[in-house]
Amino acid sequence: AWKIVSKQENAHNIKQSAYQIQVSKSPENLYNGIADLWDSGKVESETPIQIKYNGNKLQNGERCYWRVRVWTNDGKVTDWSDIACWSHAIDAFDAEWIGDKTDTDLHNYLEYVYSGYPNDSFDELKWKTPPTLSSPLLRKDFDVDDGISNATLYVSALGYYELWLNGNRIGENILSPEWTDYNQRLQYQTYNVTNLIKTGDNAICATLADGWALGRLAGIKWMKNFPHRGFYATDRRLIAKLVIEYANGDIREIPTDSSWKINPHGYILEADNFAGETIDARNLDISWTKPGYDVSKWDNASVDSTVHRNLVPQINEPIQIHTTLSPVRIWKRGDKYMVDFGQNIAGFCKLKIKGKKGSVITLRHGEWLNNDGSLYTQSLGYASATDRFILSGKDDVFIPSMTYHGFQYVELNGLEELHQNQIEALAISSSANVTGQFKCSNPDLNKLFDNILWTQRNNMLSVITDNPSRDERTGAMGDIQIFAQTSIFNMNMAAFYTKYIYDMKNVADNGQFFSMVPSLKNGAFWGGWVGAPGWCEAAFIIPWRLYENYGDVTGFMQLYDEMKRHIDVTLQENPDLIWRVRHNHNGDWLNANNISSTVDSSYNTHNGATPDDLFATAFLGYSTQLLANTATLLNRSTDYVKYNDLSQKIKDKFADNFIDKNGKIDGDSQGAYSLALYYNMVPDSMRQICFNHLLDCIADYDYRLSTGFITTPMMMQLLSDFGRYDIAYRLLTSTRFPSWLYIVRNGASTIWERWDAWTPEKGFQNPTMNSLDHVAFGAVGEWMYRNILGINPDVTNPGYSHFFLKPIIGGNLTWAEGTYDSIRGKIQSSWKIDGQEVIYSFTIPANSTATVILQANEDQYISGEYSENFTRSSPGELSAELGSGTYCFHIK
Ligand code: BGC
Repeated sequence: AWKIVSKQENAHNIKQSAYQIQVSKSPENLYNGIADLWDSGKVESETPIQIKYNGNKLQNGERCYWRVRVWTNDGKVTDWSDIACWSHAIDAFDAEWIGDKTDTDLHNYLEYVYSGYPNDSFDELKWKTPPTLSSPLLRKDFDVDDGISNATLYVSALGYYELWLNGNRIGENILSPEWTDYNQRLQYQTYNVTNLIKTGDNAICATLADGWALGRLAGIKWMKNFPHRGFYATDRRLIAKLVIEYANGDIREIPTDSSWKINPHGYILEADNFAGETIDARNLDISWTKPGYDVSKWDNASVDSTVHRNLVPQINEPIQIHTTLSPVRIWKRGDKYMVDFGQNIAGFCKLKIKGKKGSVITLRHGEWLNNDGSLYTQSLGYASATDRFILSGKDDVFIPSMTYHGFQYVELNGLEELHQNQIEALAISSSANVTGQFKCSNPDLNKLFDNILWTQRNNMLSVITDNPSRDERTGAMGDIQIFAQTSIFNMNMAAFYTKYIYDMKNVADNGQFFSMVPSLKNGAFWGGWVGAPGWCEAAFIIPWRLYENYGDVTGFMQLYDEMKRHIDVTLQENPDLIWRVRHNHNGDWLNANNISSTVDSSYNTHNGATPDDLFATAFLGYSTQLLANTATLLNRSTDYVKYNDLSQKIKDKFADNFIDKNGKIDGDSQGAYSLALYYNMVPDSMRQICFNHLLDCIADYDYRLSTGFITTPMMMQLLSDFGRYDIAYRLLTSTRFPSWLYIVRNGASTIWERWDAWTPEKGFQNPTMNSLDHVAFGAVGEWMYRNILGINPDVTNPGYSHFFLKPIIGGNLTWAEGTYDSIRGKIQSSWKIDGQEVIYSFTIPANSTATVILQANEDQYISGEYSENFTRSSPGELSAELGSGTYCFHIK
């Protein structure tokens, strides 16, 4: 894909009419006009996205350099673009898995767990997991001849790895090889290390830690045979291959094998996502990663021929540090130091310190403080989130990057003094680009917007997790699907969700999609998170988001067979088309009925729920419709007819079972009406009357939310679709309990799992389920982009070849402005009320067109260049079709 930007400020209606792509083995060739891999020639086409490589067959690991030029509808041809590069996957990972000897304690423990732990109760067993062994150090010394042209490292691990070449850390990735279901797929990473290698003596070094593969993980605490750790693997292993290319065409490979050296007693004594990391700086001689270090006493590494994993190249942006935060406040509490970073993050601290050799500094992490000023950790469950640093007596720098915590506050124990410049918080996230910006005249809404983006980043660690702090951190698909469009406005999620499509392909034994992905399916451990309505449909919804926003059909192609099977199985189990037989059910999670510590006695905690069968059947109807629509796109006309017909029948059944003749829907809750209307389960003739009932439900709650996190964004968008922007704005800008701005006003820097996570009157909610960093209620971000800025993709013209701009003025805002960097280029939208007029400004990227819809009554008139294009499309609206360019309109 490429984007066209006009250098001419006043250019309008620019479209591509043709393109030419050239791909070569070297940039020099391209500069000389030699496209030895592919020259597309001039292709007449308006499409600048999702173009597939169509040149010579690519070889093992081949690097491809490419450029593009385009012809535009004004008859001009652009210059060639800058040269970009990708590298092809490798055909085979011909290297061996190496590491320390087998961890027999862990093996025995897991065998005991599998056997049903005859001598222990479940509770006793939980505390008997053998301790983590210290991280091994691995090293290979090698000579390199003169004349290197390129050096590439391919690497993966069971557990996390960190690597150095000649004393330099390789790459900036954190927590590689990231999280997939390692029983299905394990990603490898590719690093260009040409600048790190040198003629003569070289040393490549690695250390390993438990990570997702061996460490404490996700929801295993709920599983029947609680393994505590060792879920995907019991031994940390490394596989790597360094490929050195010489200018004369020679190639040398240095794979992991038994010639690598090992020191099993590294400086990381323990590292686990939940427990934290312990680093013993006395074991750390920083020269161990440099050439010349003496390893004559080290053993040879063990080769583990029992490891067989499906290695696949990583396609999503790696997890990296994106922001470094300094303390906003440091204070002493008893003999401990407390630090506030002013922002809830996912990551870890960097501490610089010099102290007595052997003394231990302990860092505990928390998202908030208790009333007495102590760290709030009660909600973390088994995640003790504690890092320990053992000092060497010299100048130590600790970066515990083999774990991560969700925190804003840190408590440090064992320090005599702590200064501002000694400690920083390093925030990590999958490093996709930020694509959305938003500002308006209400500072609380601006804070809400920032909190949503922070919550996304904190949970975006190769999978969108439910939270980064407690002992769970699962890929909860309900949270992911409902937040998907917001996440796509915020960041470029194309690669990230494509990776997730592959994760979702691994379905349960009965053929349904899981509710948590990567799944935790693994023989005896499996606990049954299968097919929860509202959760498993991420496997339908995410591919549609990829298609609508990026014009990408990968999701459909990859998941089509699984989608079909999921629907077929669900219908076999529920032949009367009401989804009653379910293997897992969460419903409209965290609706008013789940609010237990309301601060306001007038708030009703009884009418928030949506009946389970209704909830499930709406999702079944919707996903069956999405499958039918997918079938059309993939030219499967028989399937289309079948599933379209089925979805129609489910809809009829829904109406018969759940809607009475007065348009009352079972449950009579905000959630029930929202879900039924939003998923089009209501006969057309009844839509308005059902919507009126929804309004009654909102009025019953005195214009407050009773919806759970699944139906909240649906209700907000329906209010807009039915023209009741006033109510949507009222809900959005409310500061009363429960609302988004209520938690903003209570000091939140991220989106809380529940509205009553903390209230001034009652303090914290029940700690067993009280995260302060959950994306789900942040799904209101979508409403802000779609309505305040008015930016709406058009599913019938995917990938922003056409879109809608329909900003709505309301909520007492006097101005709003923002951008979305779409796959075709940057869209900008802003408006401000200026005396008797509203001034709008828009930018539509090249290669794109937009329908602009502005609110204007009969007595309001529009001015500005191109304003003659507007016609009255409905009584309160003016609309125009506009091509690319920047526009400014005034409405009196
Ligand atoms: C998670 C939720 C999730 C739910 C469903 C919770 O513990 O934090 O966000 O969707 O479980 O099972």
